[in-house]
Amino acid sequence: MMLRIPALLSAEQVAECRHLLQQAQWVDGKVTAGFQSAMTKNNLQLPQDSPAAQAMGELILQALGRNPLFISAALPAKVFPPLFNCYQGGQAFGLHVDNAVREVRGTGEKVRTDLSATLFFTNPDEYDGGELVVEDTYGAHSVKLAAGDMILYPSTSLHRVNPVTRGARVCSFFWLQSMVRDDGQRSLLFDLDTSIQQLNRELGAGHASSVQLTGVYHNLLRRWAEL
Ligand code: NI
Repeated sequence: MMLRIPALLSAEQVAECRHLLQQAQWVDGKVTAGFQSAMTKNNLQLPQDSPAAQAMGELILQALGRNPLFISAALPAKVFPPLFNCYQGGQAFGLHVDNAVREVRGTGEKVRTDLSATLFFTNPDEYDGGELVVEDTYGAHSVKLAAGDMILYPSTSLHRVNPVTRGARVCSFFWLQSMVRDDGQRSLLFDLDTSIQQLNRELGAGHASSVQLTGVYHNLLRRWAEL
């Protein structure tokens, strides 16, 4: 399942991050690439331990924790500390799959990458190209979102970033391990949760059907969740 999380960050938060990103010292993006993806990756990244990356990472994690749509869709167990990249002057990232397991630097903690996320800091009219293209069984999906919006997509997919031919594309990207590893099961839970919320709005919370369906939701989650 691919899902857009609109306005994860407010306009003020985007402006605050852009200010930090403009002053940041960027390095070659190959530093976090696996062997195969390093061959096709051509962009800039912020060093993981830079104060700017850590401050913005914290801001993003807090925003994720307050976002009901993200929590319902991702059912997050562990979130990898957000990274930051910049593509400009024809830079691109060829078709690749993300590493299945990532180790959090300095802690040794391992995160299985069930979902990948890209959060945009630049608006589509500020650069040409730079679409995130995600391939699934329905074909290729091209994604280019407003600043502050985030796309969530299965880490199992092949994906690429098209060359940026004008301006600069600045984003945060990260991975997360979900409590529900299987994308199909997680999608069912998301659909069920969305329907229950709609029922609650239409019939009022506490309606017998809604209570029963909420029971079904939690019993499925109990069956499928890994902690
Ligand atoms: Ni990737």
